[in-house]
This record gives sequence, C-alpha cells and structure tokens, in this order.
Amino acid sequence: WDSVTSNTEKDTLTEETHMKKNILVIGGGGREHAIIHALSRSPEAGKIYCAPGNAGIAALAECHPEIKATDLDGVVAFVRSHPDIYMTVVAPDDPLALGMVDRLEAEGFRAFGPRAAAARLEASKSFAKDLMKKYGIPTAAYEVFTDYDAARAYIDGCRYPVVLKADGLALGKGVLICETHEQAVAGLKEIMLDKAFGSAGNTLVVEDCLTGFECSALAFCDGKTVVPMTTSQDHKRALDGNKGLNTGGMGTFSPSYKVSPEMEKRIYDEVLRPTLDGLISEGVEFKGVLYAGLMINGDDIRVLEFNARFGDPETQVILPRLATDLLEIFDACIDGTLDKVRIEWTGNAAVCIVAASGGYPEAYEKGKEITIGDMDDNVIVFHAGTAFKDGKLVTNGGRVLGVTALAPTLREARDLAYANIRKVHFDKMHYRKDILSEL
Ligand code: AMP
Ligand code: GLY
Repeated sequence: WDSVTSNTEKDTLTEETHMKKNILVIGGGGREHAIIHALSRSPEAGKIYCAPGNAGIAALAECHPEIKATDLDGVVAFVRSHPDIYMTVVAPDDPLALGMVDRLEAEGFRAFGPRAAAARLEASKSFAKDLMKKYGIPTAAYEVFTDYDAARAYIDGCRYPVVLKADGLALGKGVLICETHEQAVAGLKEIMLDKAFGSAGNTLVVEDCLTGFECSALAFCDGKTVVPMTTSQDHKRALDGNKGLNTGGMGTFSPSYKVSPEMEKRIYDEVLRPTLDGLISEGVEFKGVLYAGLMINGDDIRVLEFNARFGDPETQVILPRLATDLLEIFDACIDGTLDKVRIEWTGNAAVCIVAASGGYPEAYEKGKEITIGDMDDNVIVFHAGTAFKDGKLVTNGGRVLGVTALAPTLREARDLAYANIRKVHFDKMHYRKDILSEL
C-alpha cells in the first residue's frame, strides 16, 4: 500500500488525520465500551479518551481511571487541558443528572447528552410521571408522596400487588414490587424512613403493578426530531426464570421479536413523539438518547420508566447492529440536524449475555483473575467491571463483562453467545442460562 501511495495522496492522508475528531467518553462500563467500539469504527474519529474507562476500553481509548464519571470539576479541567478534544460524550445517568453537559457547554465545549433539566426525566420519577399524566402518555396509575404518614395511609387502602419507587437515581434498585400489605409496609419504611436509597427516598411514587413483557425503546433526539433505534429486550432479574433481585441487566437481545412493526410505530406515535413534544411544551430541550422502558400486554403499551441515556446492556446489542456512523449521529443530535441523517441497521440479530460476580447485585468480591479464550468471529467481549492488576485482567465490579454475538437470527446469535461465554472464566462467575431459551 505504501509503495503505491503517491505524494499527493500522502499529503491528503496527513491532512485528513489532522481533521479527525478526538472524543472523550465519560463512564467505564459495558455501555461505554460499546459506544467507544462504535465510535472507533467512524472514519471521522481520531483519538478516543475515556474517564474512568476499564481494562477492555483501554485497548481502544486512553483511559483516565483517576477521573470518576461523577467528577464534574475533573472532567471540565481535563477537557480544558486537552484542546484537541472535539466532543465529550456523557453516557451514565448520574453525571447527566448532576449537569455535566451544562458545565461543559457553559465553557464553550461540545457535549453529547441531555442537560440536567432534561435528564430529570430519568432522575425524578415524579417529574416523569407528572409529565406523562399531563401529556396523555400511557403509564401505570400512581400517587406521589413526600409525607410518610400520607403514604402509609394510602398503602393501607390500595390494591395489591403495588409498586413503590424512590424518586431519585438508585442504580436501578429503588423499585420494590410488593405482593402484600406487609411487604409494602416494610418497603415504605425502607425507602422513606431508613433511607435505604438515600435522599432518593424523600419523595415516593406508589403505582399500580403492570403485567406483560418488557421492552426497551431507545431513540436519538436533537431537541426537535426523535429517531427510534432498533428494539431490544433486557433481563433485569439476577437468576434464571426471572427470579432473584433486580440488577442493572443480565442479558439482552435485539431486535425484540415480540414487537411487531405496527407496535413499533405505536411506540413512536404514542410514547416517544409525545414525550419529546411534552418536554418542548415545558420548555425543556432534550438532546441525547431517550430511553422508554415499556410494559406491553396485548395491545396495551405503558411506560414503566424513562432513562435519559443509552441502556446497559442494551447498548451492547444495539450499537453493534448500527450501520450508520455513530459520530455523525452524535453531531446531528448536538446540532439539531437529525432529520438530515438516515439511520440504518444491519439485518443481523444480536444477543448479549452478562457475566457477573457471584453475589451480585448484593455483596460480591473483586480482584478475581479473568481468563478469556479465543472468541469466534462475530463475537465481541464488552468489558464492564474489569481492571488490570499486576499485569493480570481481574474483576472490578458486579457486572464484569458482556459477550455479544451477531448472527442472521436470534437463535443463532444466542447459541453463539452461549458457546463463547463458556470460554470466559473467573472464580464465582455467574450468568443467566435462560436468555431466549423459549426460541
Ligand atoms: P424502573 O427502574 O422504574 O424501570 O423499575 C425497574 C423494574 O421494576 C422494571 O424494569 C420492571 O421490571 C419493574 N417495574 C417497575 N415499575 C413497574 C410496574 N408499575 N409494574 C410492574 N413492574 C414494574
Ligand atoms: N438495562 C437497564 C438500564 O440501562 O437502565
């Protein structure tokens, strides 16, 4: 290749290299690995930085473990001292809620993600519920309480099962499904009096328990236009058969075969579009990823929750299927030109199985050595809680890594993912064996 490159071509290449866009990604989980994996495929992407990052991300990006994802001052200082950074992508919920995008923009920097006022859609369940009520977006019937005694009186008279939700961010754990009055009394005490989820429990949402199947509907937004991504489905419970505690997500597949094209259109018409319109009416500009967690039962579609970011592990099956340049999409979301981008998906199906530390989502040990055998083609290992210690790859979190497989059908992708996760080993490793077992 070198020998056939003329001087002029070489000059153009050098010029192009200079024009490349360097990017900082905030976060250090499987979602961020998947985002960086997609960005690194962009012809326009230059050097990628990640704060804090993880051992897998380190193969694609310069990681800065000394900067935590919630360290607003640290991130702003890093961007100030790196004038080569073209864009900062804020991926996790807490820095978004804390206003990291607002801070970066105030300094004149380019950032992808919603500002704090828009991230409230995720950070405050009562804000989200009130918005849905006001704009007729289907969700479970609910009441909001800031007073323990009033909440207590309400649960004495409500129907069971009932769902209690701490208002703020609680790592996906601030939701209690109570089958009985006794459980609800205990849950109420846990959230509002014992503050098991901290100040998130100052305000409580009590809502009807919905049944059906869950589906994640993610969409890119530029404040005006909302473009749905392909559908996906998460598995929140820790154990097979949807038993055990709620986790951040133990596995996922895309597309969600249970959602018909007609249903996808309804999700846009009845949920995604009206949510963005409602926010616009409230004077809130939402730029970034809008994620609606849905419960679908027959023809009934209802919103369980909104997130203001990519889902994890959903991103680990969605982005490997994206055919369009992710950097171009991020640019369009920031610039308000999403209507000009044609977003396309490959025909593949994707399945991701998460390998977690024994004990997760409760107490677990870190620092276990991880071995990963040779992966087959069309398999990607996205790291989540991993680190290097004394030159060895070790566990460093509850969700350790995700094995994503791509294949023409969900069934083949599932088999490929399971065949490859069996080549991953660490002490007390745990993963769900029943993902898509119905197929
Ligand atoms: P959330 O953080 O609001 O998505 O809640 C976490 C999980 O709790 C959801 O993914 C559902 O599995 C479950 N959940 C939340 N709200 C309800 C509800 N109203 N009815 C039944 N299950 C729910
Ligand atoms: N997988 C669920 C979430 O990202 O909230």
